[in-house]
Amino acid sequence: MNSGRVSFVGAGPGAADLITLRGARRIAEADVVIWAASLVMEECVTEHAQADAELVDSSRIAHEDVLRIYRRAAAEGLRVARVHSGDPSLWGAVQEQYDAAAELGLEVEIVPGVSAFSAAAAAVGRELTIPEVAQSVVLTRLEGGKTPMPEREKLREFARHGTTLAIFLSAARTSQMVDELRAGGYADDTPVVVAYRTSWPDEITVRCRLDEVEATCKERKLWRQTLFLVGAALGARGTRSHLYHPGHFHTFRKPDAGARRALRAARAAGRPAP
Ligand SMILES: C[S@@+](CC[C@H](N)C(=O)[O-])C[C@H]1O[C@@H](n2cnc3c(N)ncnc32)[C@H](O)[C@@H]1O
Repeated sequence: MNSGRVSFVGAGPGAADLITLRGARRIAEADVVIWAASLVMEECVTEHAQADAELVDSSRIAHEDVLRIYRRAAAEGLRVARVHSGDPSLWGAVQEQYDAAAELGLEVEIVPGVSAFSAAAAAVGRELTIPEVAQSVVLTRLEGGKTPMPEREKLREFARHGTTLAIFLSAARTSQMVDELRAGGYADDTPVVVAYRTSWPDEITVRCRLDEVEATCKERKLWRQTLFLVGAALGARGTRSHLYHPGHFHTFRKPDAGARRALRAARAAGRPAP
């Protein structure tokens, strides 16, 4: 008998066709599928799971109950798919389960998924890293709630960098969130995307300014399952990418001589690529 396996599967932001092929395969192979019905669309599980697979709604059980299932998997050689929303590496409480399953001698793996921040960026047709505007994305959340934030990770500290922020788990405290962003230097006209249940049938996506975020959420009663993308990159046209400029060369491409001269002159003068 094999040792049993637990696969932590990222289901993506909601839509059943945003799960990866590997994730769907792991669900199809599973004897037991554990998933949070409130966070992962039912089709994501039912479209792939075997007809006789045991389906367990994790929102109704505690960590100890999940461990009981892992113990059974170890004893009986079962394959378990533990389905998480978005990507399991972000706020999924995966680590404690991963470590416990490994200690039980189970084969353990993580299958990555499309995170909500990628889905929200896609929903508004935006790249989050625009040349000369923002080259970093901070994935964070507001302090408060059940999870304390380390002191150095206050939202205002990240806001001081002025780059693109993807703020999770904070919709219930938008007033505090906006105060923190202002304290960190974001102006009232900073572009914000408010994304509720992106890729679900009832998704809501609003593009607004920082000073409109509270009213936007209040009007539409967006307290949960909402993500905020904040920063100039969301409104900027940006400048030309150097990588795809004809004057730029790399291992696989030679530069055009004239374009190369123009690009070097622009760089020396501190101007954007022509
Ligand atoms: C516990 S975290 C899980 C994040 C998930 N692991 C991911 O990578 O997207 C839940 C938070 O993710 C965000 N979220 C998850 N799914 C979302 C969706 N479909 N649309 C908007 N925000 C979502 C919300 O901020 C929500 O409060």
